[in-house]
Amino acid sequence: MPRVTTDQIRQMKARGERIPMLTAYDYASARILDTAGVPMLLVGDSLGMVMLGHDSTLPVTLDDIIHHTKSVVRGSEHALVIADMPFGTFQISPEETMRQAVRIMKEAGPQAVKLEGGVRSAASVRLLTEAGIPVMGHVGMTPQSVNVFGGFKVQGKTEQAARALLADVAALEEAGAFAVVLELVPAELAKLATERATIPTIGIGAGPDCDGEVQVLHDILGLFPDFTPRHTKRYAELGKLMSEAVTTYMSEVRERAFPTKEQSAHLDAAVIKALRRERKETA
Ligand code: KIV
Repeated sequence: MPRVTTDQIRQMKARGERIPMLTAYDYASARILDTAGVPMLLVGDSLGMVMLGHDSTLPVTLDDIIHHTKSVVRGSEHALVIADMPFGTFQISPEETMRQAVRIMKEAGPQAVKLEGGVRSAASVRLLTEAGIPVMGHVGMTPQSVNVFGGFKVQGKTEQAARALLADVAALEEAGAFAVVLELVPAELAKLATERATIPTIGIGAGPDCDGEVQVLHDILGLFPDFTPRHTKRYAELGKLMSEAVTTYMSEVRERAFPTKEQSAHLDAAVIKALRRERKETA
């Protein structure tokens, strides 16, 4: 089965088929998600927080994204892989954005990139899509602007802010984006944006009426101990399972219950005999 294409993602909206998407940052989890059939994997700059331990996404570098995207591409065969453009790589000019996106596409091999901002990023989105690089937009609470928002807060609550968000989605669509993430916006506004847009909207903290949903893998699996965003749901407690597993492992090592003969390689009896004989002779 070939990889999912951006056209197929757009067709899913046209058919009213919901679009699940998850973040992935490494080979092993990409393999699991891809085998489960997740159609879109995002190598999000959230990796700065959940993989690297930073308190925001701002320190993430282009090399970080390239490094993690390579492993997700190697770990997947069917999913559409989208690499996030980190802070500082698309804010300077459309030409600079193009240079950085070309590095991602050439060195890491994803099928698309994502960048934050609507109207303000539209010129870059146009340049990239015209050059053959599919782009996913990202509006609402764009985490790279956390210092302007004063925290990870819901955006688009006033009439003016809601109109600005709708204009952002329209600008991205017009510039050629194949889909747009709506992060932390009121559910009613996300519904309106979804009805008006011909491209799929992918929500996160944006209510139930977007065309698709994206979540940070570590949040839904209970793997990120620092905090749990309100908009997420825990589908498993893998952090607890890991803790129990390593506690059992430590006890078994201490009590000599692991490793046993089963996990060991063995010498032929003749070789052991020869070694023993040699020892006796030299004694
Ligand atoms: O970096 C990320 O994981 C994201 C998603 C939350 C949309 O941008």
